[in-house]
Amino acid sequence: MPSSARTRNGLATAVRVVLVAVVALALSLAAGFPAQAATGPSITKKHFGTLPDGKKVDVYTLRNTNGMRVNILTYGGILQSIEVPDSRGKFANVTLGFDNLPDYVNKSLYFGAIAGRYANRIAKGRFTLGGKTYQLATNDGPNHLHGGDKGFDKRVWQAQPFKRNDSVGLELAYTSPNGEEHYPGTLRTKVVYTLTHDNRIRMDYSATTGRPTIVNLTNHAYFNLRGEGNGLILGHRLQINASRYTPIDKTLIPTGKVAQLSGTPLDFRRPTAIGERVNSKDQQIVRSGGYDHNYVLDRRGHGLDLAARVVEPDSGRVLEVFTDQPGLQFYSGNFLDGTLRGTGGHLYPKRSGFTLESQHFPDSPNHKNFPSTVLRPGDVYRTTTIYAFSAK
Ligand code: GLA
Repeated sequence: MPSSARTRNGLATAVRVVLVAVVALALSLAAGFPAQAATGPSITKKHFGTLPDGKKVDVYTLRNTNGMRVNILTYGGILQSIEVPDSRGKFANVTLGFDNLPDYVNKSLYFGAIAGRYANRIAKGRFTLGGKTYQLATNDGPNHLHGGDKGFDKRVWQAQPFKRNDSVGLELAYTSPNGEEHYPGTLRTKVVYTLTHDNRIRMDYSATTGRPTIVNLTNHAYFNLRGEGNGLILGHRLQINASRYTPIDKTLIPTGKVAQLSGTPLDFRRPTAIGERVNSKDQQIVRSGGYDHNYVLDRRGHGLDLAARVVEPDSGRVLEVFTDQPGLQFYSGNFLDGTLRGTGGHLYPKRSGFTLESQHFPDSPNHKNFPSTVLRPGDVYRTTTIYAFSAK
């Protein structure tokens, strides 16, 4: 072979090698592999959209050294996406959401949002405190749900990013004026999201009030550990550390009883596929068209306890929920109806996502036998919940 041809061949080979390297890098980036592993955790901010009233909404992207990535919106404190690896290291976004602000404003079923001031339901939107009766919005049939017409899920939160050695986070603050959504007292609220090096999202909530009031905050993320938009959640194996629950009436309000789960299709003390009993003829399940119940957690003390564990057998992805709260709402996505198109462009059919909402019991202000949700001036409301991700 003439030397010029050899040089040409050599050059062609070099070009091919470079091309292959570039393609490999691009592929690994597309798969979400930890391209930034060497640089430590990071947090970046981008404009996400503008609300009809002109308020700007940002999206913060938190990334840890394993390549886990979490997007948080300043609107509703929404966990917009959560990218975690499966057992082979393949990343997927495991939370339901949208890729644009108008869908969150107009269509969202509380996807990823902070629910408050009172997460879950209050019967007929009514409660009495200090001898005075308050009438809240009835935005869920005859009842109040998740803070009313414009709850914390629809507010723009002040955001402050922070970075520590092995974690990165976002502090969100919102002051709800006295009388907002007809709740008494100015409520100064903070929710701190921290993404840790061991693939946990930690949520630290705190609040103070100017007058006696009620408060119950949670995060309303829907999960599908197969990846959002990738089928149903029926095969997920769920375990909830609760031996009792609060049965509901026809409007999904607790009857006031605290009942044993033993012998019912709602018992998840042993890991069981969500789909195994979801269509049971049990009156409790028929009432809510699936699971939509408050579990009374078996607590060992006042600290963080493992409340629930979910394993998705195909991907091997595991979600554990730790909380210091007395209750956990397990909701099997019964109201999803296939009309919403999610972040990845796929429709969300019924039961394509589930929620595990750490909380005080629904309608507590109207049940003296439930733990109190009253917050008084001078006291600080504090609670922590962790979503821990792994794969097996
Ligand atoms: C909560 C409620 C459900 C439903 C969803 C939102 O999980 O318990 O009944 O309202 O929020 O659709």
